[in-house]
Amino acid sequence: MILETTYSSDNYPIIVEHNALAHLHKYIQDYKDVVLIVDATVNKEWSIALDFITSEYDAHKVIIPSGESTKSLSFYAETIESLLSRKLTRDTCLIAVGGGATGDFTGFLAATLLRGVDFIQVPTTILAHDSSVGGKVGINSKHGKNLIGAFYRPKAVIYDLDFLATLPYSEILSGYAEVYKHALLTNIKAVNEIEQQYHNANTLENLEEIEYYLYKGIETKLNIIINDEKESNVRKYLNLGHTFGHAVEYEFKIPHGHAVMIGIVYQFIVANNVLNQDFDIAHFVKYLQALNYPLDIIKQFKFESLYDLMLKDKKNDQQGVQMVLLDGIGNPIVKHVDRTILLQSFELFIKHFE
Ligand SMILES: NC(=O)c1ccc[n+]([C@@H]2O[C@H](COP(=O)([O-])OP(=O)(O)OC[C@H]3O[C@@H](n4cnc5c(N)ncnc54)[C@H](O)[C@@H]3O)[C@@H](O)[C@H]2O)c1
Repeated sequence: MILETTYSSDNYPIIVEHNALAHLHKYIQDYKDVVLIVDATVNKEWSIALDFITSEYDAHKVIIPSGESTKSLSFYAETIESLLSRKLTRDTCLIAVGGGATGDFTGFLAATLLRGVDFIQVPTTILAHDSSVGGKVGINSKHGKNLIGAFYRPKAVIYDLDFLATLPYSEILSGYAEVYKHALLTNIKAVNEIEQQYHNANTLENLEEIEYYLYKGIETKLNIIINDEKESNVRKYLNLGHTFGHAVEYEFKIPHGHAVMIGIVYQFIVANNVLNQDFDIAHFVKYLQALNYPLDIIKQFKFESLYDLMLKDKKNDQQGVQMVLLDGIGNPIVKHVDRTILLQSFELFIKHFE
């Protein structure tokens, strides 16, 4: 399946299929230099396929540490100096092969190397169906996640679903939170459909029909970001579940999507409180349990420290915490929520997981 962005210029294709890497040659054949920046775990699992690309296109390969540790200022400095030592010119294409961390890091390298060279995203996780699209790239600061970065579009997103075969279940769960979030932002039909398809851990682990759901998720994200690339209004909706989720992720160092899924449930409780919604919280809790999300960590949650972290959320303004809430499935809004409501909702939330 191929999607194409619909900006007024600088559009890029998003190819989502098995063996999508076969399309790569069309996008890299004219560059003087091609550099693959590859997550170390992905390199270990897929070295034969990747070495084939490097030899076929006379490309360099740079292996970077797996996951989030790569998104640091010190590692960025080390890598960009090393790239510059190769005397690269602007006629260079960087190719990010890995999950969201590799994509964010490589995109930021591309945005800043020689004031900008081209880059291609080759996502290898489920979560990266989200992070590889939309042009947000960046690294972390000691002050918080993704605080150093840019909006910088890739030349193509080549999402080869073969990579997903080596993904551990914990990472499937992490990515699934964003796929599910995209269904919640679409409509009730999309939510019913995805819950039926993946009704327990076994069905989710098998990833049957995942191509369709990833495609749908990307389509939802595109519809939003085409209207608001730089997050001045509707792009904020993509933060559904992230206000509480980021706080939990930061405090307990659990995978991004596990925390977002927990944040989505908390958001339903807040929406019931402030928007008079009637979301069936027990249904969502049961669904997370059926998928085997690790939820024991919730017993350690304390409101005050999570609230302090929520106060640092980038969507907030001088009035305090702003959350994305569902005013009905498929109908997100951004709303101020005061401390009293957040605390009451937290107490209810904890009861559901006792
Ligand atoms: N730019 C954006 O719009 C955006 C959106 C959402 C999230 N993000 C960022 O994405 C990152 C999270 O992405 P992620 O969950 O993909 O994390 P990740 O890149 O850290 O990958 C997760 C783990 O999976 C491993 N892995 C990757 N592909 C694999 C494969 N095919 N087989 C086996 N193991 C594999 C990695 O080595 C890593 O240990 C965060 O840094 C987050 O800030 C960015």
